[in-house]
Amino acid sequence: MLSWDEYHNEDTLNTAAAAKAAAEAAAREAALNAERERQEATAAQTVEPEELPEAVSVDTAEVLERAAEAVAAMDIAPGLEELEMGAARVSVDEKAMINCRADLNQLVPFKYDWAWQKYIDGCANHWMPQEINMTADVATWKSADVLSDDERRIVMRSLGYFSTADSLVANNLVLGIYRLITNPECRQYLLRQAFEEAIHTHAYQYCIESLGMDEGEVFNMYREIPSVAKKAAWSLSHTHSLSDPNFKTGTVEADQTLLRNLIGFYAVTEGIFFYCGFTQILSMGRRNKMTGVAEQFQYILRDESMHLNFGIDVINQIKLENPHLWTETFQKEVIQMLVEGTQIEIEYARDTMPRGVLGMNAAMMEEYLQFICNRRLAQLGLPEQFSGAQNPFPWMSEIMDLRKEKNFFETRVIEYQTGGALSWD
Ligand SMILES: [Fe+2]
Ligand SMILES: [Fe+2]
Repeated sequence: MLSWDEYHNEDTLNTAAAAKAAAEAAAREAALNAERERQEATAAQTVEPEELPEAVSVDTAEVLERAAEAVAAMDIAPGLEELEMGAARVSVDEKAMINCRADLNQLVPFKYDWAWQKYIDGCANHWMPQEINMTADVATWKSADVLSDDERRIVMRSLGYFSTADSLVANNLVLGIYRLITNPECRQYLLRQAFEEAIHTHAYQYCIESLGMDEGEVFNMYREIPSVAKKAAWSLSHTHSLSDPNFKTGTVEADQTLLRNLIGFYAVTEGIFFYCGFTQILSMGRRNKMTGVAEQFQYILRDESMHLNFGIDVINQIKLENPHLWTETFQKEVIQMLVEGTQIEIEYARDTMPRGVLGMNAAMMEEYLQFICNRRLAQLGLPEQFSGAQNPFPWMSEIMDLRKEKNFFETRVIEYQTGGALSWD
């Protein structure tokens, strides 16, 4: 068996090429068959036509005449006025992160180039879960003697937490944050992020299905397993006010509520709660176990580190534009939130690692999480709370720093293609 590092060694790659090509062809065939079966199943679920009311019959000439009259009588000005806070040409100075009164349908002129650049970078990193070969993982998972009970527990808990966590994040983005962030560059990235969260949920579902896990058990862990439930409950507690359709920004109190949500989701959920699980699964991959799942997590980590950086930029930009929100009391509250999140993740580390496993243990993870918490505090311009905490897993930073390298993922099954299925017939 090849080690994680050996996969990146050229000589080993040459000798393994033939076996790899055969495995890839088999995986492609299996993916095509699975897709065909899924399409057939979907077709079988179509509503029977007799259950629908009959289609109406109309006088086409009359419809055309009415349409022509309506189009001729249209007055565009009032329609556009209603679109967004006035429809004049927007200048850069009128743009703002929150509570902006300018038209939000005009992407340019750009003010927040960093947000647009992250949208471009996110698109350049596009990937899909089915591109990753899961064959070896299926064999490992089904075999009784490859993984230890502790290693199996880590795989189960990770899929249990993440399979629902990414849905929580996506719902908060679309139903809460999106309408309150009032500039089109950031919204463009939010739309990209929302799609990436859908891909992540898809990736977890794909792992769970490939490995033949009990789906009900995995998808309900966020309610049934205390260390997982605590993380989900903490994140959810920060969405309540934003998911109220009547919630509006514009007062100090409401603007701080939005900031609290952004910090809870970007800095704590995506910035702390993801790190124990990511580290455990990637450590497993480095030991040449569950390499397909590990590769899915590696792609996800690359996306997540960009989500986190975007979120930090958004929070810091709101602070810059609205310094009156960043009061001493509020800063203390934010520090408390980050330390609380770290504590919850340390509990999760203890629950998932009752003993040393995969070259790590709960005490090492505790220090790593304290190190991460210090970084998040520093990124938000707040004082570190765990003096001297070091990073016991420097390889994690290397994986994140490689996020822009195109061909880093050597075991990719299918090259991503754009427009491959288009036909003009
Ligand atoms: Fe995600
Ligand atoms: Fe994310």
